Amino acid sequence: TTVEWEAESYDMGGHDTYMHKEIAEQAEAVDRVLRGRIDDRFATVHLGGLNLEPGEARRVRRIKILGCGTSYHAGQIGAQLIEELARIPADAEPASEFRYRNPVVDPDTLYVAVSQSGETYDVLAAVQELKRKGARVLGVVNVVGSAIAREADGGTYVHAGPEVCVVSTKCFTNTVVAFALLALHLGRIRDLSVADGKRIIAGLRRLPSQIDEILKTEPEIQLLAQEYADAKSMLFIGRVRGYPVAREASLKLKEVSYIHAEAYPASELKHGPLALIDPGMPTVAIVPDDDLLEKNRAAMEEIKARSGRILAVAHQKQEKADHTIVVPKNEDELDPILMGIPLQLFAYHTALALGRDIDKPRNLAKSVTVE
Ligand code: G6P
Repeated sequence: TTVEWEAESYDMGGHDTYMHKEIAEQAEAVDRVLRGRIDDRFATVHLGGLNLEPGEARRVRRIKILGCGTSYHAGQIGAQLIEELARIPADAEPASEFRYRNPVVDPDTLYVAVSQSGETYDVLAAVQELKRKGARVLGVVNVVGSAIAREADGGTYVHAGPEVCVVSTKCFTNTVVAFALLALHLGRIRDLSVADGKRIIAGLRRLPSQIDEILKTEPEIQLLAQEYADAKSMLFIGRVRGYPVAREASLKLKEVSYIHAEAYPASELKHGPLALIDPGMPTVAIVPDDDLLEKNRAAMEEIKARSGRILAVAHQKQEKADHTIVVPKNEDELDPILMGIPLQLFAYHTALALGRDIDKPRNLAKSVTVE
């Protein structure tokens, strides 16, 4: 059995679907997760419920993030942020995989459970198993007082507000921002400089207005979605910071439009997926303006040479792509937060063009509280 959402309890606020409403709410949601937490004096952030003393934070040798679905993808971006800002080795793993492989539970590892609902059984069971073995577990959770939030030793709330659509959008974005806060906090206890702390804080503060800028391009994204809606299958590529964005965007498209989509690291194209490229298999390329830009351009060239159609999400128009969705640039580390947002709209409008049941895709549930 699964928990049914109570649609009646939230107002649609003039939108036709909750998905559209929740996408539109992201600037204010991000504002909420930042509010009251930034400390300009020490170029850091305070996370009240973390329950982790500075001395303890310094002793953490590794961070393991556990979640399911979209929360797992948010955790993948979170792991990168933690590695980049705090230089602590970190990775994310689906909670169910973790719990069924008799994992080595290491006393110097900090475990982080991520969940919108705070009730996903696989995540809760992983937390309980970890606690039974004496591990320290933090929660990055949206629903206040939920089972995972209660079970964890501490953590931070995501403050996305209620999310009704089965497909997660605003909670994804807020979860990634919450991880940026955690990464900044840990970084400033360890080796992140004041200058870098300030740079990241300034970047975080720019997010809400940049999100609004992206949302204004919706009419253009709608046309693109209509153009690509005939695809039987789509490839999503990115590398390093772009790869988890590609994974989440591909999940969004398949959940809500039922178009098969697969995400691949751009660097792996030549080891298999290039064989799939033809005019019927479009590629969405995540192309941030960072030190991997040239490599990403080369990947697009490979696809073009095989007559593949390309839709790029980038910081400037890409010559190799058939279409580019241009997003505002932030700090390199924070770019992944923004680059997924146009692709939420892309998935939404693709589903709309195909007449799908947007808020309740077939076979899926908002919260999976059984194994
Ligand atoms: C279900 C939902 C997904 C969600 C996942 C994890 O599969 O359909 O949208 O990402 O559960 O949910 P959680 O509440 O733990 O984030």
